[in-house]
Amino acid sequence: MKKIIVLPGDGIGPEVTREAVKVLLAVKKKYGIDFELQEMAIGGQALEKTGVPLPPETLESCRKADAVLLGCVGGPQWESNPMPLRPESALLELRKQLDVFANLRPAKPFPSLLHKAPLKQELLKDVDLILVRELTAGIYFGPKERRQFGASEKASDVMVYTDFEIERVARKAFALAQKRKKKLTCVDKANYLETSRLWRKVLRSVKGSYPDVELEFMYVDDCALQLAINPGQFDVILTENIFGDILSNEATALLVGSVGVLPSASLSSEGKTAIFGPIHGPVPELAKQNKANPLGAILSAALLLRYALEQEEAARAIESAVQVTLENGYRTSELMAPGMKLANTSQWGDMVAGNLP
Ligand code: IPM
Ligand code: MG
Repeated sequence: MKKIIVLPGDGIGPEVTREAVKVLLAVKKKYGIDFELQEMAIGGQALEKTGVPLPPETLESCRKADAVLLGCVGGPQWESNPMPLRPESALLELRKQLDVFANLRPAKPFPSLLHKAPLKQELLKDVDLILVRELTAGIYFGPKERRQFGASEKASDVMVYTDFEIERVARKAFALAQKRKKKLTCVDKANYLETSRLWRKVLRSVKGSYPDVELEFMYVDDCALQLAINPGQFDVILTENIFGDILSNEATALLVGSVGVLPSASLSSEGKTAIFGPIHGPVPELAKQNKANPLGAILSAALLLRYALEQEEAARAIESAVQVTLENGYRTSELMAPGMKLANTSQWGDMVAGNLP
């Protein structure tokens, strides 16, 4: 039987994850899919309980599982903690330990939410892009230093990539593009960064195995601009860790209008545990009010079914139930508009579960 570890985390994490679990259980019943869920602690929640943000038992259970469903971590009460005792460290450590090097962040506007996106509607018509972010190397994981030099203080974070780290994520991105519009845009800063020049070399060599996929290179500053003026040109965007962090937020904000609705999948090599979760953060000021948008979490459950459990039909069922609920005019507070009906977090979970085809 497939095993899924549920890590609700902090802030709005528990309430949105609860709805994703509700939908997963409805899918399990309706489609007869066999899996078992186990909830465990991570982030600030784990710090309070056990003194560390990633308890060894959480990590061990995740390692043995088929998939992890993660809410979000962090909050103001832990912001002055030293790095190892910050909730975010748990997230980075879990990514590293599970070796989930390919982070997929789809950004496809929802037809019924088009008016909420800041870009003009005609620019959004054909947009269906997916950003692949390298997740376990680069500046997040390179050497870090903080030193006092007499009266002044110096800090550094080093961006490091080895060719195999680039190659494995490149293969995932090429394979993904091959199943879509067959276009891969590699985003970098090759006019100045050595790591980017290594990325280009590896990408050109991997391209040989995917002759039908068009490969183009784009500087990250240009990509930030192109996402705003011509987002329809992209199919799959592949980029290193920190550029991906930034561009994925930009793409979400511009193309979808709310960071609350988008899911993500963090994949490792074939057969290893993958992590799924919304791309939004903990938004502490919204927590425990039953107002947060659970769509990012619910759609992450769909990605979990698709990528970790290979249940494409069930994944599509969730996506279509979300679509139908939006078309029926229901909105969470941040997406409210005249003529729409306000629904809270738990009502959203009930409706999506109820609208499963
Ligand atoms: C994300 C988040 C994390 C990241 C933070 C919380 C460390 O912003 O998943 O995009 O930068 O990777
Ligand atoms: Mg981010």
